[in-house]
Amino acid sequence: MKEHYSVIDIGSCVCRVVVGRFLSDGKLDILGIGSSPSQGLKAGTIVNIESVAQCIAESIQEAELMSGINIKEITANISGLAVDSHNSNGVVAVSNKESTVSHSDIMRVMEAAQNIQLQNDHNIIHVLSRDFSLDNHQGIRDPIGMTGIRLEAQVHIVSARNTALSNIEKALAMSGIRLESYIMSSLACADALLCTEEKDLGMIVVDIGGGVTDIIFYVDGGVCYSTVIPIGGMHITQDISMGLKIPIESAEFVKKNYGSSKASLVDPTERIELPNTNQRSSRFVLRQQITEIIEARVREILEMVDEELLRSKYKSTFNGNLILSGGTALLDGIDDLAEEVLGINVSSRYIQNITGFAENVQTPEFATAIGSLHYINRMGGQKTDSQRAQPKRLLKRITNWLVENV
Ligand SMILES: Nc1ncnc2c1ncn2[C@@H]1O[C@H](COP(=O)(O)OP(=O)(O)OP(=O)(O)O)[C@@H](O)[C@H]1O
Ligand SMILES: [Mg+2]
Repeated sequence: MKEHYSVIDIGSCVCRVVVGRFLSDGKLDILGIGSSPSQGLKAGTIVNIESVAQCIAESIQEAELMSGINIKEITANISGLAVDSHNSNGVVAVSNKESTVSHSDIMRVMEAAQNIQLQNDHNIIHVLSRDFSLDNHQGIRDPIGMTGIRLEAQVHIVSARNTALSNIEKALAMSGIRLESYIMSSLACADALLCTEEKDLGMIVVDIGGGVTDIIFYVDGGVCYSTVIPIGGMHITQDISMGLKIPIESAEFVKKNYGSSKASLVDPTERIELPNTNQRSSRFVLRQQITEIIEARVREILEMVDEELLRSKYKSTFNGNLILSGGTALLDGIDDLAEEVLGINVSSRYIQNITGFAENVQTPEFATAIGSLHYINRMGGQKTDSQRAQPKRLLKRITNWLVENV
């Protein structure tokens, strides 16, 4: 097992690198952090590799300086429209004479479950086990050693476009960094924010970043739905910029400093001075005018989230909580608005159980990077189940995943 791990979250707004190690008491010790404003991404996908490579180089250098560690390989997140996911199932006959389920039966049934039609140019990056059935008895977490004839596996399969994967690999290679594995962003984020018991009870994590909103839905300890919506906080900033006719930088400042998702909670007489509008005289607007613009867009994002939750078909029976994450979760009043739109208990939370440079990463913007470290650790320091490997090695990784999760 390695002493420390390095992860990179190439977000639409900020590229973040975190170096960390796990202590014997289970705490995550943050050794180094690097971040750089992102350029060259659109809706979470690389559109200009040179610009992205520059941001990667800057954030890696910063994390190296802080940690004193020379980063040679790294685990990267992947999100955006290049990612797709499906539920699938596989069925096999239990192979040995005594009808006792063995490791090899699990491997065969997981392989059978992968027999799905992927989108053109897509590669599987995760095969997440959700549930096993043995002779139609459902809800079995670990069937190894049990007796039965017909073994069925329910899985959640995540795939990503090969070109998007190789662009991340190339951008990292430009800094001399080897890509170790990929993790779907929402899966990583959930690992920073949820414990196993919560996944068992059922939880939803919605990460509203700058360019995309990542959604992951857990039922009975497994992922039943995951998706990405190509909209986020940058769209709110653009709306403010257009609505008030001010530059993007000023709109971003106004959003962060005077923003709220609930226009009705703001004093209707409060006026604020707009920054850097390049006009001779200062310009004042009603704060409520700003919050109305923000509320309209946040409501739209949340309605899109609701459409996805309904599409999952698990919402009607769901009685767990939803956690908001990502930079946009810092908007004042967003939890209340989300509860109103989604009809689900909503909360934001700080990442717990970390030490070292902890205060620098205890924000919702760092949840995905921190969660990647947890995910790698949960896999026993093994590479994740992301593929680009020989099928045999892949199966071994799936088995590792099962060992961690059943
Ligand atoms: N205090 C704040 N109030 C409102 N919005 C904020 C605040 N802080 C950050 N944001 C917004 O959060 C967004 C960035 O979030 P985050 O860093 O999670 O995105 P990212 O990971 O770079 O992008 P993505 O995940 O979409 O690819 C920006 O739109 C930014 O304006
Ligand atoms: Mg993000």
